[in-house]
This record gives sequence, C-alpha cells and structure tokens, in this order.
Amino acid sequence: QKKITIAIDGYSSTGKSTIAKQLAKKLGYIYVDTGAMYRAVTLFAMQNGFIDSEKTNASALVKLLPKIDLKFVYNKDLGFAEMFLNNENVEKEIRSLDVSKNVSQIATIAEVRYKLVEMQKKMGIEKGIVMDGRDIGTVVFPDAELKLFMTASAEKRATRRYKELLDKGDKVTFDDVLKNVQQRDYIDSNREFSPLRQAADAIEFDNSDMGLEEQFERIYNYAIRVI
Ligand code: C5P
Repeated sequence: QKKITIAIDGYSSTGKSTIAKQLAKKLGYIYVDTGAMYRAVTLFAMQNGFIDSEKTNASALVKLLPKIDLKFVYNKDLGFAEMFLNNENVEKEIRSLDVSKNVSQIATIAEVRYKLVEMQKKMGIEKGIVMDGRDIGTVVFPDAELKLFMTASAEKRATRRYKELLDKGDKVTFDDVLKNVQQRDYIDSNREFSPLRQAADAIEFDNSDMGLEEQFERIYNYAIRVI
C-alpha cells in the first residue's frame, strides 16, 4: 500500500485535529498538530515578556528563535504526541485562552513561520503523515495527495471550543471564546506571509451540521480512494 501525505487546513476550532488524529490512527500514519508548534513559540514569547498588553516585541523573539527547542513526544497512554518546549511538557499551557489570544499575532512573524515550516517539511519527508494547520496544503506540502479545507459557522466552532475549555476547568465566557475564534480567523486570513487560504486542489468540508462519525467516514473514504 502506498503512503500519502494528507494536509488538513481550515478555520479555528473546526475540529481539524480530532479528525486528523483519528485518521492517522486508522491509517497507521504520523499525526502532526502544527498549531501546537505556533502555540509553544507563543508561550515562550509570553514567558520571556515579549508580549505585554497586546504588543509584541517581534525582534527580541526572532533573536532567540535558535534557542527555542520544540519536540513532539509520543505519549502511549494518551495515544498522541505531546508538545515539549525546551524539554518541558507544555501540552496543557499551550491550550489556554491566554495563549489562544496571542498566537495569531506570533504566527504573522515571517521568521517564526520559516523555522516551523522547515521543521514540518522534514517531518513529512517519508510521507505517511496527516498534518493539520493553516498553510499545510498551500505552503508546507503543496504536493500533498489529499487536501481538506475544513469550515463551520463561527457560532458552532465557538460552542465546541467553549465546551472544551469549560471541561478543562478554564473560567471563560462564551463571548470571549467567540471573539477569539473570529479574531484569529481574521488575523490568519489577512496576514502577509502565507495567509489562511483554501488550496485550489483542496476539498472544502463544511461540518457545521455533521457528527464526528459521519465526518470520519467521509474523510476516510476520500483517503482510501487516493491510497
Ligand atoms: O490549530 P490551532 O488553532 O491550535 O492554531 C493556533 C494558531 O496558530 C492559529 O490561529 C494560527 O494563528 C496559527 N497557525 C498558523 N499556521 C499553522 C498552524 C497554526 O499560522 N500551520
């Protein structure tokens, strides 16, 4: 059976990672969550005081980029890889609303994107990979055999993310979450370097009114048609 590259892009909180993880597991592929990498760099910037009251000291961060070591470490019990920043497990911190509020700003910085895209390309050299993000089908793997572009209404997406954060015990309001989802979509779609775009050869997948099972079945069928 030939191995392919699967690129999943789309707006914030469209459930990309849930589907991507499931698909990778079923196919025996590697799964890479590129959002986690942008989130870890953002956490580093916050820890070092490069972001305060919504202003970002991009040049200070860029100088320290070589000192940022990012690693995915597979956790057997969880069944997926966790993000390590300079040898520390930051999986939990990077999912907070605080990091979500700053990450899109950090993701506009060309040097940050360059570093992470290089790492991502290397991870996919042998194919057999499902990668999700914003620029996977357009920039990281323009030759991916299967590209999906996930969409859903902002309200649906915010509702899902709000429930997730509440379940984790984060004290957030629905309005805050909705605002964050819309803000990230806006910044991600309008930035200068590799903005969020649907690749010409990507399949648009609107899951506003679709359960997980149906989504998985449809997407798995797309995959096996190509493999
Ligand atoms: O996927 P997730 O929502 O965790 O991504 C967080 C943020 O990281 C996005 O809103 C976007 O600003 C940035 N990102 C990106 N390119 C990617 C993945 C994520 O710019 N490939």
